[in-house]
This record gives sequence, C-alpha cells and structure tokens, in this order.
Amino acid sequence: MLTIETAKVFEPLLQPARFKGAWGGRGGGKSHFFGELLVERCLLTPGTLAVCIREVQKTLSQSSKRLIETKIAELGVGSQFRVLYDRIETPVGGLIIFQGMQDATAESIKSLEGYQIAWVEEAQTLSARSLALLRPTIRAEGSEIWFSWNPRRKSDAVDEFLRVNQPDNAIVVKANWRDNAWFPSVLRRNVSLISPSTPTAITMCGKASMHEPSRAATLPQSLVRSAKRDASAKSQPIRSSRCEPFGILAAPVPRPMPWRWIVQ
Ligand SMILES: Nc1ncnc2c1ncn2[C@@H]1O[C@H](COP(=O)(O)OP(=O)(O)OP(=O)(O)O)[C@@H](O)[C@H]1O
Ligand SMILES: [Mg+2]
Repeated sequence: MLTIETAKVFEPLLQPARFKGAWGGRGGGKSHFFGELLVERCLLTPGTLAVCIREVQKTLSQSSKRLIETKIAELGVGSQFRVLYDRIETPVGGLIIFQGMQDATAESIKSLEGYQIAWVEEAQTLSARSLALLRPTIRAEGSEIWFSWNPRRKSDAVDEFLRVNQPDNAIVVKANWRDNAWFPSVLRRNVSLISPSTPTAITMCGKASMHEPSRAATLPQSLVRSAKRDASAKSQPIRSSRCEPFGILAAPVPRPMPWRWIVQ
C-alpha cells in the first residue's frame, strides 16, 4: 500500500469532481498536491490519459513534467512509469502529455478528446478563449479538469469561472503557505521579509524542531499552546492511504501534529 501525506487544506480535492481548483499565494503546496494526485490517479485508474496544460509552454522546461517525475520517484513507483522525452507512459497504456494552449486551435485541441484529466498550472494566465476551448474538449465519462493558480485579478478567466460564479460541480480550496506542512525554510525567511507586520519571528516546530530544538524549547508555553490550537484548526496534515485496490481512504493523522507554526 502506498501512503501519501496530504496537507489538510487539500482534503476536499480527494473527492471526484468535474472541476477542482486550488488557489492562493506562493508556496502553498498546490503544485505538489496536484502532481501527487495525478500520479495517484494513474496508479488507481490504469490507462488514464492526462494532459498538463499551461497557457504558454514554449519548451518542456516550462511544463509540470519535472515535478511529476520527482513525485513518481519520491513515491517509489518508478517501475510503473516510463519517462520519455516529451511524455510519461503510465500503467496499462496510460499517458501524461504536456501542452500549451496559446498555440492550440479548435481543431488541434480535439486530439485531447478522450483524455480524462486536464491539469492547468498557473491558471491565472489561462485566457477566456483557452478555457472555452478546453471545457467541452475534456468530455470523457468521469473526466476532471484541475486548476492551480496565484490569483491576480477577479476578472481573470479562472477566477471568474471558479471564484466569482463557481459552478455546482466544482470543489475549490484556498491554500497559502501556512497550510503547507513542507514549507521550505528558504521561503520561510522570505515570508518574514515580505511581511513586516508579522511579529518578530516565525519558527516552524515539529519537523523543524528536530533541527532547532533549542529555539523551540525557549518559547513560552502559552505561545506553543496557541500555535498548537491554530495549527490543528488550520493546517493539520492528513495521512491518506489512497492507493488501495478498492478505492480511496483518507483519515486525519490520529497523533498530535507532526509540525506546527509558532509566531512570537
Ligand atoms: N506534498 C509535498 N511534499 C514535499 N514537499 C512539498 C509538498 N508540498 C509542498 N512542498 C514544498 O513546499 C514548496 C512549495 O510547494 P508548491 O511549489 O507546491 O507550492 P505552490 O502553491 O505551487 O507555489 P507557487 O504558487 O509558488 O507555484 C515546494 O517547493 C516543496 O519544497
Ligand atoms: Mg506552483
């Protein structure tokens, strides 16, 4: 059985839905979540045809291919995938391809009919035209279109579609860096810099306290308690065992938080 640790904020997206969206500021874990979800989907539903889309994709280095390769390796399922130059072969004849929308025409996009998953990364740049082309194209039974993005304007096509007039068959979550249990320390320093209103120090304990035990130990207990409350309300990672042969199980981790934010 494969175990995938998932930040709690993304739990609603583990259900099937025609449209799934995750939006929020930088470093919220959106790309990693959808990358893992895609790998999982290919394992759970052999033969899945998936397309990773960006509005502009001049070269493969602008695509999600590298991230997906990393996720395949991290999850230890490399033997079930074959990474080729421009695509990834997935179990039982499935495929993940990578495509830019800007150069697509109404005719060329038809080659995506039959695809069950389309994941639009950096969807804030998706034009209204691209969205309008994509929606009727991804039409296979049970197919899903996923969007991850950093919002710019409410009038952008994806915001209009999933935030302003959210359709019934959509699940949309907001994920920010506080929700990211894996938030890297290099970005954490950045957050302190870009948020001068943040109280003087932000320290990640739990996982990080293994590396900074002395610092964590000096924090007043009242702060630790309030951070624990805050963390369990907002950001408790769930451990989901989602690759069983019979479906998807997801359950909160029954133990105390493996990590927490402490703000002093
Ligand atoms: N599931 C995960 N497993 C391992 N690391 C993770 C995971 N989720 C997030 N991270 C870490 O957090 C960082 C930020 O996550 P990610 O790139 O997914 O955020 P994002 O919301 O897509 O950010 P941006 O809006 O900048 O694209 C990653 O570079 C990685 O170090
Ligand atoms: Mg991202």
